[in-house]
Amino acid sequence: MLVRCRRNRWSEGIRALVRENRVTVDDLVMPLFVNNAPGVSREPIASLPGLFRLSIEALLLECKELMDLGIKAVALFPAIDAALKDPRASDSKNPDGLTFRAISALKKAFPSLIVVADVAMDPYSSDGHDGLVDAATGIVLNDDSLPILCEMAVCHARAGADIVAPSDMMDGRIGAIRHALDNEGFQHVGILSYAAKYASSFYGPFRDALDSAPKKGDKKTYQMDPANSQEALREVALDIAEGADIVMVKPGLAFLDIIRLVSENFNVPVAAYNVSGEYAMLRAASERGWLNYKNCVIETLTGFKRAGASIIFTYHAKEFAQWLKSPE
Ligand code: PBG
Repeated sequence: MLVRCRRNRWSEGIRALVRENRVTVDDLVMPLFVNNAPGVSREPIASLPGLFRLSIEALLLECKELMDLGIKAVALFPAIDAALKDPRASDSKNPDGLTFRAISALKKAFPSLIVVADVAMDPYSSDGHDGLVDAATGIVLNDDSLPILCEMAVCHARAGADIVAPSDMMDGRIGAIRHALDNEGFQHVGILSYAAKYASSFYGPFRDALDSAPKKGDKKTYQMDPANSQEALREVALDIAEGADIVMVKPGLAFLDIIRLVSENFNVPVAAYNVSGEYAMLRAASERGWLNYKNCVIETLTGFKRAGASIIFTYHAKEFAQWLKSPE
């Protein structure tokens, strides 16, 4: 045999030399849940073992640790008290509200930390939908949701968010939000669009964490059908035309082909969201001794890079950064 592929795999040294993709801390965004608890409080999330709903004080301590590990970006998700939820997601634009306070506390303590703020009504909505629900028909209204989403984005920017991330999948929201931000003087605030966001059951643990599941119906009239890929290209093209700086594919593992397709067809950075259900699967199987957690996480994150993602939102970010810092 003249050609032997195994020669390039013969030792760790040679494998490192020929390695095509590496995940670094620069690629990672750590999603964090924040709640209204007083003091330094870390409330465990049953379906996301190892993750917590953090009080603002605990959030600051957590972000200090993340930054010491080299992580440069976090995505914030607020767990709003049920009593504050209403059909118009009013608490999202409350300057004394949890989201505003969390973002501004973070930016004050860590000006260089990139804070990504989600734009969608569901954590604040008594209906649990990403847009405004028509009370008579139960339909999620598109155009009537846009001003609410725009106001939310402007409030996040005012609080200090570096990037707003519309995850609602309403038509036309990227352009509307871009105009709203620019009108308020927030030209420098970026938009990371959840462009190809699928109606997925892998979001289950996230909805437990925020108690944000839809009260009625599902999200299939706005989030995408998992059977489609051409539609992802259409959504991404539209969001880029409307001013998205970064586009996301979500969830990750069942949609690696979409990450590849989007990264090959467009010249904006692509983010992948390694969602809550994907995190929970590795946790659950490794708790039972069925999988090696660390190896499976590394393999998963590397897969996102190989598929073409340049940014990875992952609940494994902190642990991954710890392993990079002190490999045993
Ligand atoms: C809210 C939102 C969701 C996620 C991120 N932003 C849930 C949903 O659309 O129902 C899911 C994240 C995860 O599962 O990790 N619009």
